[in-house]
Amino acid sequence: MNDTFRLSNGQKIPAVGFGTYKAADGEDAAVLSAAVDCGYRHFDTASFYGTERALGRALAECGLPRGEFFLTSKVWKTEMGYDNALRAFDASLARLGTDYLDLYLIHWPRPDLERSDWAALDLDTWRALEDLYEAGRVKAIGVSNFLPSHLEPLLASASVAPMVDQIEFHPGYTQQATLDYCAAHGIQVEAWSPIGRARLLSDPLLTEMAGRYGVSVAQICLRFALQKGVLPLPKSANPDRMAQNLDLFSFSLAEEDMAALDAMPRAGWSGEHPDRERVRP
Ligand code: A2P
Repeated sequence: MNDTFRLSNGQKIPAVGFGTYKAADGEDAAVLSAAVDCGYRHFDTASFYGTERALGRALAECGLPRGEFFLTSKVWKTEMGYDNALRAFDASLARLGTDYLDLYLIHWPRPDLERSDWAALDLDTWRALEDLYEAGRVKAIGVSNFLPSHLEPLLASASVAPMVDQIEFHPGYTQQATLDYCAAHGIQVEAWSPIGRARLLSDPLLTEMAGRYGVSVAQICLRFALQKGVLPLPKSANPDRMAQNLDLFSFSLAEEDMAALDAMPRAGWSGEHPDRERVRP
């Protein structure tokens, strides 16, 4: 298995990315610098996370050229609409200290559950991302937390189809309907909380499998994502675990173990429903 995926527009993307949600406080870049030192070259941030400045600092301090890194950020709910999204993009670039992004995503399909015109707002926001893409200011564009019901109206009117959909994905919560829809439309799926927010770490099936393969439960979860064609975005504040989470290419899960993981009872902490924003900010 390759350590890169290729997006529908031909762009290469490192097959494991570092999730930066809660990875930094203010401008403290220590965790992010440790991730760079461990070998991470793909970082996932968002204006909502408050980690863009710290990430920018870690990247500036590491001395490696910008071109070594794949950087993703996202338009937050309050930044939607054409003009707002363009301004949000510039603000993200300024905080990151860069003049382009590798990937820019709409963070949530429905910024406000009371609004019935969410599809029009998504499309208006998407027009901004398309223009940024056409202008060469971002190398790929996509969405996050979009289910097929959100992707459908977007795809019907988009000039540039989304290249990525970042969703919650881990054993016990694979959102297979969204995976199938994305596969049919050439959309690369990325996984947030690929180790299930650590809730899976003591699961008996995963623990047994980890023992058999001589790896950790986290590595089983991450390898499961890769073999499903899903790009995992693990987070950790601990350098040993950061390194472990990149070490996924020296073993592979047998078909029957993949099937067992696929069949795991539901362990999601939010429902597979467009309104699941109700339980997560
Ligand atoms: P820590 O920062 O102490 O390593 P997710 O990305 O699925 O939301 O999970 C993140 C959580 O999983 C963090 O609390 C992190 O804690 C923990 N974690 C990350 N990698 C590993 C690992 N390899 N082994 C055990 N726990 C891990």
